[in-house]
Amino acid sequence: MKQKNRTIKINTIPTDGSGSLSFFEANRDIPFEIKRIYFISNVPEGKKRGFHAHKTLKQLLFCPYGEIIISLDNGNDKQDILLNDPSIGILIDEPLWREMHWLKESSALCVAASDYYDPNDYIRDYNEYLNYINLEGVK
Ligand code: TYD
Repeated sequence: MKQKNRTIKINTIPTDGSGSLSFFEANRDIPFEIKRIYFISNVPEGKKRGFHAHKTLKQLLFCPYGEIIISLDNGNDKQDILLNDPSIGILIDEPLWREMHWLKESSALCVAASDYYDPNDYIRDYNEYLNYINLEGVK
């Protein structure tokens, strides 16, 4: 089955010829409390990162500068989303296998996350991910 649309519009307002300002608020614009913000920078052009899924973590991904493709795989269907606009966010609220492909040097990937860092929430093996979602599906 095809995946749902996971992009959301981030409020972005022009600020009088001096750029734009974007913002979102926990529990209002995104459906969770934010416990952690992290961002990934200085990634060489062409590099891929990610290659994991999260069991319970919810995240909003956004790219205030640059160009990054986010690939989201739910075990049946793969969706590629281009992040190249500060007013676009990707809401991930279920376990999805993700890969991130840096198309431009200096692109910044920012993430608002629903929980603190927990290595036990990661699944870093694709077959393990498939087993996990199949087991979750029969619950
Ligand atoms: P990881 O999530 O694997 O990065 P990516 O998905 O972009 O490839 O994280 C890379 C390393 O950073 C890993 O050793 C875990 C560590 N890390 C933290 O310590 N705290 C955090 O909040 C995050 C996201 C990662």
